Amino acid sequence: MNEAIGTRRCPVHFDHESAEHTTNWVAEFDAMREKYPVAWSDRHGGFWVATSYDAVVRMAKDAESFSSHKHFDPATGHVEGGITIPATPITRGLPVEADKPEWDAMRGFINRRFAPKAVESYRADARLYATALLNRVIETGAMDLVNDFTGPVPAMVTMKLMGLPLHEWRQFADPLHTMVYTAKDAPNYAEVVGDVAWVFQRCAEEYARYLQEPEQDNLLSYFAHNDMDGRRLTLEEVLAFSNNIIIGGVDTTTALTTHALAYLHDHPVERERLLENPAMLPFAREEFLRFYSPIHGLARNVAHDLEYDGIDMHKGDRVFLAWAAANRDPDVFAKPHAIDMARPSNRHVAFGSGIHRCIGSNFARMMFEEMMAEIFARIPDFEIDYENSRRYPSVGTINGWETMPIRFAPGSRVECSMVL
Ligand code: HEM
Repeated sequence: MNEAIGTRRCPVHFDHESAEHTTNWVAEFDAMREKYPVAWSDRHGGFWVATSYDAVVRMAKDAESFSSHKHFDPATGHVEGGITIPATPITRGLPVEADKPEWDAMRGFINRRFAPKAVESYRADARLYATALLNRVIETGAMDLVNDFTGPVPAMVTMKLMGLPLHEWRQFADPLHTMVYTAKDAPNYAEVVGDVAWVFQRCAEEYARYLQEPEQDNLLSYFAHNDMDGRRLTLEEVLAFSNNIIIGGVDTTTALTTHALAYLHDHPVERERLLENPAMLPFAREEFLRFYSPIHGLARNVAHDLEYDGIDMHKGDRVFLAWAAANRDPDVFAKPHAIDMARPSNRHVAFGSGIHRCIGSNFARMMFEEMMAEIFARIPDFEIDYENSRRYPSVGTINGWETMPIRFAPGSRVECSMVL
């Protein structure tokens, strides 16, 4: 019998924000999944950690018992619930930190803007940004893969989607970027969170401008001119939607694409295989999503006292759903610690599961494809300088790279309507 059954708490000292987790997460998740698929960590005030695929998916699909709702009081800074552990002291993200029935109207309000057809209309933009960014550096034979390419492309697409000024992408991306990789108990965390206020202030200014202008094809303008469930959004809701969409948009696809390119650099035979079989790219992409899980895990809040597989959980308990651990569960994925770019039936949960499953998954897939195509076509021979590359100091939220210098055979600029 599993030791978790019939006991209140199976204690572990798991801390997804720790340096140990950053370097040792695969072994740490394996050990927990095997022994305590639902464990109790004594860190951050105590929380449950679900690591088996079965537990993660069952809890994610039971949104009535496992709530995402966050309460934040800007006057006092008091924060409760939401999808991070510890809770992030900024305005909640919408729709991700709302429960049914509130969530239904919110997701319904934006669904159409993320549908496959809408996403396709941004493909040419993603390609344009990718080409312009490579043009900027191609003659030099060197760039920082993250800061000059895989970071800016998703950030610029997100700016366009939101209706924010494209040239300000770095000012938007940097504070959010730093917030997701700074551990919440780091001495500079309050300052890092303070820097995010600028992002909201700029969203509010641009939203005020769209209120005065005829409707345009972007999200802030859409919010300004359309009703959700028979009423306009409040400014607070506009900022909460912006928070979720900008954070979702800027770092995740960057992490995925950087990891994929690094893997292909380290495995030249695999790189050749992919270059010779472009039809394989969608399968490879899903495997990179499974293997690297750009979002390692997110939280839920127990909505009422309940029993989960013999474990007593109490209202208000916090739970960490470890997508990354579920994605390496050997009961679901054969050879989970190996990348199989042709893996059949890949039921990964990198985009989550249940009602909050990622609305931006089509955007992520499209941006990934465009970035890979640009690199493959123009600098397939790039070499990574690992000595000067750095992972995020904390991968508990996003499993990404902070910097990755690369070198390549210098090439020529190509014709492009955008000059950066
Ligand atoms: C590789 C890239 C991405 C990954 C791995 C990823 C992962 C996730 C995950 C795991 C969730 C579930 C959250 C939960 O259950 O609490 C989620 C939700 C969400 N994502 Fe993504 N995401 C990616 C890209 C994007 C992009 C590009 C956008 C926007 C442009 C986006 C916007 C959102 C939003 C708005 C939600 C909330 C959906 C809801 O609550 O109904 N994501 N994402």
